Amino acid sequence: MRSHRTQGPLPTFYHFYPGVPAVVGVRLGERVNFCPAVWNTGLSADPPLFGVALSPKRFTHGLLLEARRYSASFHPHTQAPLVQHLGSVSGREVYKGKTPHFLGHTGVPILEGAYAAYELELLAVHSFGDHDLFVGRVVAVWEEEGLLDEAGRPRPGLALLYYGRGLYGRPAEEAFRP
Ligand SMILES: Cc1cc2nc3c(=O)[nH]c(=O)nc-3n(C[C@H](O)[C@H](O)[C@H](O)COP(=O)(O)O)c2cc1C
Repeated sequence: MRSHRTQGPLPTFYHFYPGVPAVVGVRLGERVNFCPAVWNTGLSADPPLFGVALSPKRFTHGLLLEARRYSASFHPHTQAPLVQHLGSVSGREVYKGKTPHFLGHTGVPILEGAYAAYELELLAVHSFGDHDLFVGRVVAVWEEEGLLDEAGRPRPGLALLYYGRGLYGRPAEEAFRP
């Protein structure tokens, strides 16, 4: 294996990919916006806390700070073109709120087609380097039962995987216990 010591930004940082992107949905007044975030993670099961790291450059960043309620949805690989589009244009220039969605119990917009989605209330924001970690408490969950297995997991082969730089994939339909 090759190795090198690092200083400053890495030429190839993304060794933790592929990841499952979450699409963050937010509404401020009549303005709706969607932003994919593959830098996402569960942080606590009880209470259920979910984190997304967003650059302050994202239009969504400011909207979340004001709205303090948002959604995070998980999508089948067939929605890769939509996710790529939402992650390639900014709500500052393009109105992404016309994308088919519905409003959750707390009024947050949730992108159509998800196999699962959270409604979140913003608990804390912490800055780490060039991204800020938005920590949300899950206050409602949506699940498309037909797309999940008996344990609530996405059916093997369904989820969207992101490899970085516009490259997507899907998991194999085979799942196994080692
Ligand atoms: C699949 C995918 C994953 C992304 N993940 C993140 C992420 O985790 N954090 C982030 O700040 N930007 C991420 N981006 C970039 C934003 O989604 C992109 O800059 C988007 O256009 C911002 O939209 P907005 O300005 O309307 O908020 C991702 C883009 C794509 C396509």
